[in-house]
Amino acid sequence: MLASGLAAQAQELPAGKDSDLVDRVCTACHNNGRVFQSNKDADGWKTTVDRMVGKGADASAEQAAQIIAYLAKYFGTTVNANKADAKTLQTELDLTADQAAAVIKYRTDNMTIKNLADLAKVPGIDAGKIKLFENRLEF
Ligand code: HEC
Repeated sequence: MLASGLAAQAQELPAGKDSDLVDRVCTACHNNGRVFQSNKDADGWKTTVDRMVGKGADASAEQAAQIIAYLAKYFGTTVNANKADAKTLQTELDLTADQAAAVIKYRTDNMTIKNLADLAKVPGIDAGKIKLFENRLEF
């Protein structure tokens, strides 16, 4: 527990609608390495954020809901780029139907997507946008 706390490195949050809010509220007591070490679904993040508010995190109910939505989106459950179906790619990684189909075609033609750089090479994928999800991606 102590060791993992010390190992947590502050990092730059993916720029989203509420990244500044999360940065302000969630780095008051510990750096955001805590967030980067976690992948939770929306329920899991709700439990954590409620717990942090209980400890004194400075967020209104509305802000807490925004923070939960942000964390569930960028620090949600992991998505395997080689196994996820088209629907998961669309709902979890914000891809269009065309982009999801291109990912599936790419991995069929090329066997495996090895890393984020490979995924960004898929025709039609926006490299900047997909990078926002790097904390959720596994290969
Ligand atoms: C008032 C101080 C404080 C603030 C503000 C705070 N935390 Fe924490 N957080 C803690 C403490 C203390 C721990 C370690 C003890 C524990 O887990 O209860 C912790 C642990 C964690 C953990 C690891 C344990 C777990 O439940 O997964 C995560 C993740 C986390 N915080 C996320 C957040 C997020 C997200 C926010 C912003 C909503 C936040 N923290 C704001 C004090 C705070």
